[in-house]
Amino acid sequence: MGARMACASDAGFGCLVKRFDVVIAGEANMDLLLYGLPEALPADRELLAEGMQFVLGGSSAITAHNLAALGNRVGFLALAADDAFARFWRAELENAGVDLSHVVAARAGITTGVSVLLQHAQSRRIFTWPGTTAALRLADLDLDSIASAQHFHLSSYFLQRDLRADVPVLLRSCKEQGLTVSLDPNDDPAGEWGHDLLDLLGCVDVLMPNEHETCRLAGDSDLERAIETLRRKVPLLVVKRGLQGAVAIRGEQRVAMPACSVACVDAVGAGDSFNAGFLHGYLRGWDLERCVRLGNCSGAFSTTGVGGTQAFRDRAALAQFLERHGETEVLAEVASAVPSRRTGNGR
Ligand SMILES: Nc1ncnc2c1ncn2[C@@H]1O[C@H](COP(=O)(O)OP(=O)(O)OP(=O)(O)O)[C@@H](O)[C@H]1O
Ligand SMILES: [Mg+2]
Repeated sequence: MGARMACASDAGFGCLVKRFDVVIAGEANMDLLLYGLPEALPADRELLAEGMQFVLGGSSAITAHNLAALGNRVGFLALAADDAFARFWRAELENAGVDLSHVVAARAGITTGVSVLLQHAQSRRIFTWPGTTAALRLADLDLDSIASAQHFHLSSYFLQRDLRADVPVLLRSCKEQGLTVSLDPNDDPAGEWGHDLLDLLGCVDVLMPNEHETCRLAGDSDLERAIETLRRKVPLLVVKRGLQGAVAIRGEQRVAMPACSVACVDAVGAGDSFNAGFLHGYLRGWDLERCVRLGNCSGAFSTTGVGGTQAFRDRAALAQFLERHGETEVLAEVASAVPSRRTGNGR
């Protein structure tokens, strides 16, 4: 367990093991994926998709699910609406072994968030109803369970309408309690990329944007210049680059690694799955190169199944994939993870 062991006291009374490796707060969303629609979408026509899948979505829920599949103890904090979609995402996360004991019932009238993703050949469109994600407040978060974790992760900052103003307090409290903190901004639907996120970075240990988000956050369309700007603001910057893999910068150290080559079903949640793999290594104090390699491996593996989590439900396939990519050390932890009750990518 090594780096995952945390001492509660230096006074010689021994060490207490933290209850969670990671606590994640945020969105539990459903993703409705439609495949094969034309790029041009004329109004008032009935346009037929070639395929449909309805799966667990939400950046933070996908990261939580896949961290648990890799063998981490994960606590998840969110609002649960009183609807069928909430029962669905609860079951998906519980089957993966994610602790939901501090999920809070949403106030009456608030429904689970849903994203409709149109998977075109060269691009995708995403339409989102944020629902419970936007309604999550600081008062809904169980701060004791956060304090009982080694690490705190936050995703989709710009969707957190009712939490956003309190994120500085939340992250400061994480730092005061000795947690490390990671943040995946994801897209800003308003396109404003407010300065409030940059102001938070003093409390962030690992910033995990994709290329587009890197440029928008830095206010610079040149990726290298944007990286140069952001890397000075955080101890560790990790930029996800889709098929080009990822680059991580810590101080003067820079690691760039290509993506793994796989047969891709869809790339939904690849970034969130990358986060799971990278953080798995980060939590164990691995060197940067190994963290990026497992991040790329996890991102690629997620693309071999529908949405962000379906590939990870098949633990035997996950173990085979990791072995094929030289990640043998992770295998024992995958084997020790709570087995998913269902396997395979279909439903
Ligand atoms: N088609 C692919 N084949 C192999 N690996 C991929 C593919 N797409 C993504 N990845 C891996 O997943 C990682 C994250 O993907 P990406 O850069 O698309 O993140 P993102 O834009 O944050 O995704 P998300 O839609 O989850 O927010 C990449 O760095 C890469 O390692
Ligand atoms: Mg992303």
